[in-house]
Amino acid sequence: MSQDQLSLQQKSTISSSSLDANQLTMLQQATANYSSLQLAWASGYLSAKSESGQSVQLSSAPTVTAAKTLTILYASQTGNAKGVASQVEQSASAAGINTKLINISDYKAKSLKNETHVLIVASTNGEGEPPDDALEFHEFLLGKKAPKLPSLSYSVLALGDSSYEFFCQTGKDFDERLKALGAKQVLPRVDCDVDYDSDSDSWKLSIIDNLKDELIQADVALAPVIDLPVATSSQYSKQNPLAAEFLLSQKITGRDSAKDVRHIEIDLGDSGLTYQVGDALGVYFDNDEVLVEELLAALNISADEQVSLKVSGEQQSFTIKDALTSQLEITQTAPAFVEFWAKQSNSEKLLEIASDKNTAREFAVNNQIVDLVLANKADVSPQAFVDALRKVTPRLYSIASAQAEVEEEVHLTVGLVSYENNGQQRFGGASHFLANRVAEGQQVRVFVEHNDNFRLPSDNNTPVIMIGPGTGVAPFRAFMQQRDADEAKGDNWMFFGDQTFTQDFLYQVEWQNYLKSGLLTRMDVAFSRDQAEKIYVQDRLKEHAADVFAWLERGAHLYVCGDANKMAKDVHQTLIDIIETQGQLNTEQAEQYLKDLRSNKRYQKDVY
Ligand SMILES: Cc1cc2nc3c(=O)[nH]c(=O)nc-3n(C[C@H](O)[C@H](O)[C@H](O)COP(=O)(O)OP(=O)(O)OC[C@H]3O[C@@H](n4cnc5c(N)ncnc54)[C@H](O)[C@@H]3O)c2cc1C
Ligand SMILES: Cc1cc2nc3c(=O)[nH]c(=O)nc-3n(C[C@H](O)[C@H](O)[C@H](O)COP(=O)(O)O)c2cc1C
Repeated sequence: MSQDQLSLQQKSTISSSSLDANQLTMLQQATANYSSLQLAWASGYLSAKSESGQSVQLSSAPTVTAAKTLTILYASQTGNAKGVASQVEQSASAAGINTKLINISDYKAKSLKNETHVLIVASTNGEGEPPDDALEFHEFLLGKKAPKLPSLSYSVLALGDSSYEFFCQTGKDFDERLKALGAKQVLPRVDCDVDYDSDSDSWKLSIIDNLKDELIQADVALAPVIDLPVATSSQYSKQNPLAAEFLLSQKITGRDSAKDVRHIEIDLGDSGLTYQVGDALGVYFDNDEVLVEELLAALNISADEQVSLKVSGEQQSFTIKDALTSQLEITQTAPAFVEFWAKQSNSEKLLEIASDKNTAREFAVNNQIVDLVLANKADVSPQAFVDALRKVTPRLYSIASAQAEVEEEVHLTVGLVSYENNGQQRFGGASHFLANRVAEGQQVRVFVEHNDNFRLPSDNNTPVIMIGPGTGVAPFRAFMQQRDADEAKGDNWMFFGDQTFTQDFLYQVEWQNYLKSGLLTRMDVAFSRDQAEKIYVQDRLKEHAADVFAWLERGAHLYVCGDANKMAKDVHQTLIDIIETQGQLNTEQAEQYLKDLRSNKRYQKDVY
């Protein structure tokens, strides 16, 4: 279609759907003296009328006085806090409260002094660090320039994971700082663990109950409540996953590798579920029947004992076997369970472990529920046992494909968690499910977790440096597919590492082909066990320090994916060293250089 044809078609579409001159004048006259709130109300009314195709009943025109606004800020890394904040916003709006929902990265912390009511829903990332989007807000609020906030009422909902040392640290930081700045806490902060649904729901209901008298203006008539279709890219979400067809689990490490890494393919079919490179796929899984049976035998509880669990806000009945298979977390142990089991079993050793927070946390990481139960016998009722467990949570996997290349498929690179404990073979819940337990053609429940903090540069000419050892390679396979499809001219430099060249070079042929075609400008690999001394990706970065710095100076975006505990920290420190020596800066300046890259979204991490 030519440009002329396109504009002709656009014109006719616009004119057939808009008002004629007379109608437009009438509308302008009718709304001339409306306030912004009244305009918003009218817009909601008209939109509801057009969406419903019915007439919308109104009792009378609203008399509006200036309503106070409830500002809801979210700080989220992998989408949970964002999801909770949206639910709070929907419920508060439905209750008649004027709300604003804002990603904390789009909010100037200085503006807090102009607010009357603020809610913050914040997760914690790294080791007690704020999510990427909240770094600037956090630094400003906790810094000297933060304004006094005597007129602000607030409450904080903190999301975290009690297996981490700094549980809900970001939420705690915000809460304590707001209090210190003179703001009034409407409700005490609630710290939520990984199964946050019920705690976040209670907080939401209490906060709305607390604020509604203050925030709902008695004389503001509510817009007609009609459920409008929510503008989302897909009907599928964490709450409503897609049952997708499992296509393939293929081992991509060699026979003699110490690791078992799988290339997984899943078919999204004609679901309409789409993703961008940089996103993650959320995967629900059932626990292994063999493990459930071992656990029930260790507990001396029969599989068909009935238990009651709250699911989606409602109390439901299950056999304990079904509850352990599909509802509860049994491969990860929470520190709180260690304490519970220590008391139940009255084991001296376990009571000692439970008495120290750090020891309990470390013990929980290294022992599954069944290991505790086998080693320390206790007589516990089926209901008391399930009440002590957390709800199972879906696992996230960085997407390893681009839809431009694989269309309705989605690919993952999954490392099987497998180890021996006290002579017993133990597996990770989801990785074992994906690697070994789902058959081709079966369905898996999935959703896309969008991640705007891990995106290719919008300008295809921008160079990128990708650092992705082990399964950290996944999103970079997707990046290359996308750069290929876009015919991007920007240079691409990949750092990959693992244990050995012959056994662990994930997607080796693909990388070689990209090098041959010229799409991949450079590749540096580090195989730690192929020589006497260990060599890692950070060593390769150091070897090529001058080039790494030169790429950064010409605008390269830098990406790190994979292990958060050691690799990402070592890479971070190496980057500071490189910037310091190559840029002839002092440590503080080098740190600031990297910080600036991060806030300009030129240094992005997807680490776990
Ligand atoms: C944003 C994001 C992206 C991710 N991307 C990927 C990816 O691309 N590929 C990938 O493979 N993973 C990825 N992960 C990690 C993934 O989500 C899971 O955490 C991982 O697969 C383990 O889950 P699991 O259910 O198999 O194991 P779990 O059931 O969660 O873990 C089993 C338990 O075993 C314990 N354990 C593990 N190893 C040992 C050991 N040696 N000794 C004693 N105890 C042990 C653990 O502490 C844990 O308690 C990502 C995570 C995030 C947050
Ligand atoms: C890499 C990583 C680091 C984390 N670090 C912490 C931590 O230090 N403290 C904590 O309480 N929770 C930590 N968590 C748990 C998250 O805060 C928790 O999963 C939360 O629900 C995520 O919410 P979000 O999706 O909004 O980011 C971490 C999670 C990940 C993946």
